[in-house]
Amino acid sequence: MKITITAIKADTGSLGGHVVPDPKMKEAISKLMEAEKGVTIIDYHIQSVGDDIAIIMSHTHGEDCEQIHELGWKAFLKSTEIAKTLGLYGAGQDLLADSFSGNIRGMGPAIAEMEIEERPGETVVLFQADKTEPGAYNLPLYLMFNDPMHNPGLMLSPKMKDGFTFEIIDVEETEVNSIVSLNAPEEIYDIAALIRNNHKFIVEKVFSRTTGEIAAVNCTTRLNLIAGKYVGKDDPIMLVRAQGIFPATGEILSPFTLAHYVSGFMRGSHHGPLKPVKVNGGLSFFDGPPIVSACAFNVKNGKFTTFIDCFADQFWDTIRNKANQKALYIREQGFSGPAMLEDKELEYGGITDKLDRLKGRFEARAKALNKKIKN
Ligand code: 13P
Ligand code: 13P
Ligand code: MG
Ligand code: MG
Repeated sequence: MKITITAIKADTGSLGGHVVPDPKMKEAISKLMEAEKGVTIIDYHIQSVGDDIAIIMSHTHGEDCEQIHELGWKAFLKSTEIAKTLGLYGAGQDLLADSFSGNIRGMGPAIAEMEIEERPGETVVLFQADKTEPGAYNLPLYLMFNDPMHNPGLMLSPKMKDGFTFEIIDVEETEVNSIVSLNAPEEIYDIAALIRNNHKFIVEKVFSRTTGEIAAVNCTTRLNLIAGKYVGKDDPIMLVRAQGIFPATGEILSPFTLAHYVSGFMRGSHHGPLKPVKVNGGLSFFDGPPIVSACAFNVKNGKFTTFIDCFADQFWDTIRNKANQKALYIREQGFSGPAMLEDKELEYGGITDKLDRLKGRFEARAKALNKKIKN
């Protein structure tokens, strides 16, 4: 059976600053989705990470279906209404458009969508991150699909021996979708050369080279590039298929033991470690650190099983402790050097304003002339 999984995510307001949404917001979305179950959609699931709510829907209408996108948009308008009524912070933060215009892409919410031929035992892992950007998934995707240190299945399983194709998008090209397809393992150095830049080159999709089937889809929205100003970080959502011709769930989770440094910590302007947290988790320190949750589920005729919380196990407490240490280490240097993002990526205009203002205070002084010792 061909089904589509649509996962969308938005910050429509939160409690106590940019921390967590109010449960009433999720209830309002749930009510709307329940009425559509068996009508427009087959099934749905709602969860949050930090201040962002995600709605995962299954249906048979394919990718970029107007009715499905509109349903998501309406759901986020509902949660915005509740956030406004409760006086929450940043109500409707990620809803950039005044009205729905046919496709939710480019309107603010993050979206990861894949149409698949459902396999027996179809297994999917959903990632949701807060206080970071879509490029935060670049390194984990590279490692889970290319590196036998994380994915021994690349050596052990004949089903993965042909490797994977990476579709990488240049998000700074806003006029057109500028995408390159590169094959792993032959072109892994080219892949690395692009995706080391998490702000510009983002892994959008990964395909199996054994069957051509989609393996992973990442959202690639960059709100500031759309809006032309800071409107919150582009907290990303991603779907990865597991088992069989794809990496095992454990191989997909393995790269998240790194807690690698990503951008998005405090005011979207600092670097911090990506800390794996439990589903529906909030933030603790310096509006962060950047967090990621993961849940695994199966799909049968479009119906979802229970979603299991992949980072709930005590094992991940060790990684959380490491991430906390890494957060403290980088925070020790405050605004200096690599603690903050480069000027172009800063999410507020304050520093640019200061630099512009100070331009006029710089004086040109004559360079010192070379002097020779006179004999
Ligand atoms: P498959 O059954 O999909 O080959 O995966 C084996 C596995 O999960 C090892 O960890
Ligand atoms: P959000 O993008 O998650 O709303 O975070 C805003 C921020 O920068 C908080 O410091
Ligand atoms: Mg927010
Ligand atoms: Mg957020």
